[in-house]
Amino acid sequence: MRIAAVILAAGSGTRFGGARPKQFAELAGTPIVTRAAEAFRSHRRIDHVTLVGPVEGLAAACPGFPKEGIVPGGSTRQDSARVGLEALAADPPDAVLIHDAARPLVPARVIDAVCDALIAGAEAVLPALPVTDTLKRAADGTVTETIPREGLWRVQTPQGFRFDLILAAHRAVAGQSLTDDGAVAEAMGMRVRLVPGAEENLKVTTPDDLPRAEALLGARLTPRVGTGFDVHRFAPGRALMLCGIRVPHPLGLAGHSDADVGIHALCDAIYGALAEGDIGTQFPPSDDAWKDADSALFLQHACRRVAVRGGRIAHADVTLICERPRIAPHAAAMRERLAALMGIAPTAVSVKATTTEGLGFAGRSEGIAAQAAVTVLLP
Ligand code: CTP
Ligand code: MG
Repeated sequence: MRIAAVILAAGSGTRFGGARPKQFAELAGTPIVTRAAEAFRSHRRIDHVTLVGPVEGLAAACPGFPKEGIVPGGSTRQDSARVGLEALAADPPDAVLIHDAARPLVPARVIDAVCDALIAGAEAVLPALPVTDTLKRAADGTVTETIPREGLWRVQTPQGFRFDLILAAHRAVAGQSLTDDGAVAEAMGMRVRLVPGAEENLKVTTPDDLPRAEALLGARLTPRVGTGFDVHRFAPGRALMLCGIRVPHPLGLAGHSDADVGIHALCDAIYGALAEGDIGTQFPPSDDAWKDADSALFLQHACRRVAVRGGRIAHADVTLICERPRIAPHAAAMRERLAALMGIAPTAVSVKATTTEGLGFAGRSEGIAAQAAVTVLLP
């Protein structure tokens, strides 16, 4: 069975507010619509994805998404859904899942449940959860009625349909303001089945929903600890760069790049958490492009890799090991600089230092060593 997905991202997000519609707001560094689109693009049952909404904005938010798969939406949700279905009509799939872009955390098991019901022959399928709170009707803040909750369900998306039936239904009821496609199917007398939805499949509607979604996302991420270690030898005639700060000292460090030993250890910790090699494999010293390079570039690359993997850095801890220079006077500036480069709060970054009591190469002031640990949260 060929199953397509239509993702509705043409709303203006009035209740959410803000400069841009809510589907472009970032949830842990990735736009809400990008997460919703990725859930379907990466799902084995989905053969094709259409995005409905502002073409340029969606193309920018979803790099790698084919632009011909994006169509401008309508003035109501119902209209946007119909437009998305019409875009598929020339090469119709057997079934279609229609999803709110504003539900970025849709779990694969909900998509599976909807697809399973369609494959089993259902015409229309809605993921739903039973109402657990007691329901009241009220006017002017005063209760007028208690509504029995038995038999009441909260429905979510993706809602799945036989393609030919839902396209015909949408054409027949065009111009109303039905708030889900299930209602369009009901209006045509289709038999609408329920399958289990998921609490985490929330619709971002008001600003309060963003921290809720972030908390749910955090609960879904696995912490991975990475460690890094690096040493550079002192050399005359070079500026001393440590953790992104130029530290006044008679000697700098020798190295192919700017030899920022603190950033190098930190990068290796991040690549280690990702299991993506190390700074040497990412930026080979044999490549002249990195000669005297600003190590900030390496750190930004490592952090981008985390973002591309859908993760985030929870904290970083760097220890510089040397007799000289003294690090303490610069530690606050180093934390600020590393935090800015990593796009995390300075309170999540630690820079500290130790001597080796005069022992070994660091004790003889032949060079500086650094070690780092990070926790990366990965899906
Ligand atoms: N939607 C759409 N086209 C519209 C209206 C809504 O594609 N003309 C989409 C939204 O982008 C969202 C989904 O339908 O992904 C669910 O709608 P809702 O949560 O109501 O979003 P908005 O309409 O954007 O928000 P609001 O009602 O607060 O303005
Ligand atoms: Mg709306």
